[in-house]
Amino acid sequence: MRRLLLPALVAAACARAGAQEAAPVQLVIDTTHPGALIDKDIQGQFAEHLGLGIYGGLWVGPQSKIPNVHGWRKDVVGALRDLHVPLVRWPGGCFADRYHWRDGVGPVGKRPVRVNSMWGGVPETNAVGTHEFFDLVDQIGARAYVNGNMGSGSVQEMSDWMEYLTADSQSTLARERRANGRSKPFPVAYFGVGNESWGCGGHMKPEQYAANYEQYANFLEPAPQRRPKFVASGGTGEDTSWTEAISARAKDNIDDITFHYYTIPTGEWAHKGGALGFDEAAWIQTLARTERIDGMIAKNSAVLDRNDPDKKIGFAVDEWGTWYDSAPAPAGGVLYQQNTLRDALVAALNLNIFHAHADRVHMTSIAQMVDVLQSMVLTDGARMVVTPTYHVFRMYVPFQDATALPAVLTGAPEYVLGDAHMPALSVSAARGKDGVVHVSLVNSDPHHAIMVMLKANGLQVASVQGEALSATKLDARNTFDAPNVVHPDPWKAQPDGHGGATLTVPPASVVVAAVTGTATP
Ligand code: AHR
Repeated sequence: MRRLLLPALVAAACARAGAQEAAPVQLVIDTTHPGALIDKDIQGQFAEHLGLGIYGGLWVGPQSKIPNVHGWRKDVVGALRDLHVPLVRWPGGCFADRYHWRDGVGPVGKRPVRVNSMWGGVPETNAVGTHEFFDLVDQIGARAYVNGNMGSGSVQEMSDWMEYLTADSQSTLARERRANGRSKPFPVAYFGVGNESWGCGGHMKPEQYAANYEQYANFLEPAPQRRPKFVASGGTGEDTSWTEAISARAKDNIDDITFHYYTIPTGEWAHKGGALGFDEAAWIQTLARTERIDGMIAKNSAVLDRNDPDKKIGFAVDEWGTWYDSAPAPAGGVLYQQNTLRDALVAALNLNIFHAHADRVHMTSIAQMVDVLQSMVLTDGARMVVTPTYHVFRMYVPFQDATALPAVLTGAPEYVLGDAHMPALSVSAARGKDGVVHVSLVNSDPHHAIMVMLKANGLQVASVQGEALSATKLDARNTFDAPNVVHPDPWKAQPDGHGGATLTVPPASVVVAAVTGTATP
């Protein structure tokens, strides 16, 4: 594997690698034409009863020697707090359509032990249920996305859960919630009706699901002031038939339609490719495949533009990220995978694409938050480490609830390897809640730094300053013994003396920076 550049030596190294000799790339950010709001929920997370995703990675129980608050690990929760996680989706995934909420309320010792038939047939103790989940989101400082069971549940069961969660009356279910320790209704931000109903959620047809959705949603009856957003379970990949069927039929009582897309290096579920030790061909294949989500969102948005021209329905990518071949994992791990510099670029490329579709994409959740697939955090017993993907999410916090700004690249190079090719550079710009313009740049080419001449309409640029994340190898990762191998370093651009700046984007890197200066008429 070719050695990449040391992030600590970004400036000098860029000179060695040679910022592309061709004409410099032009980037114009237009601060005078604000676009859509980049909803903070685009940085949502997903925690499923799957492997160590809840039990072990997040929940250790109040009696554990691992420091915890009410059973939730202090170390992991602390790291997640720093990410400003806006939203956590729970309890699945495929698990959601096998989960019966009543199993997870009431005295812990009296809760039934079930079989997690979806994920390994392991015992599901129900130690984590509704009340514990809301304690977790409180501790993280996030909001809740609860996913209901259409597959093996019933209309009544889902309706009851909604009442239990949100009723402020003297109904039997509201009183039961109070008796279980929660006097006020739980604030539910989103409520999902089923998951992957084309597959693990019941092998339905789109029209069948759309009809079921209307029926289930009809009996979800929270008080208007506590109504969560109602989320219908949509399609995956290139298929738009789920978006079509649901948006054509369920025009009321619906806020979002979901979409799932996993990035698999080979594109084949049977042989996905490994998380580590891959070559450059797998690097470019993975990054090029992840960018396909842009076209998928565009196709689905076109369907929604026809059926929902007023843009009342959002397109929620509530499962996305990398999925590699299984590899040895700590005890209890399922879909536990390593996370490298490649995952960091996957995360940043996806976030930039979501920003570009912010008029439709208001919420996403990466799969998943801890110890499952493209995680923020990996644990092994009492140890934990934050991943390269974690760092990208932290770098992107300024984009939460920012306003997208047009950012036009001219003359940007292609990154080519054999038959594979993709744009070398991805960009996103926005005005943050703090009023500051923020820009993110992803250079997928591991061999060349890219020099970018930045101008900003409406802004005389004085400084462009932030962080760059890269590493010495394509599959560089953080481990429990070496937790800081992949981390962001301070980065800044050179003002060009003419109201713009010259940015050098290191090879195989993610840069996020604040663009400051004087507003011009
Ligand atoms: O994220 C892992 C699984 O992938 C989810 O449970 C399911 O919805 C998807 O197929």
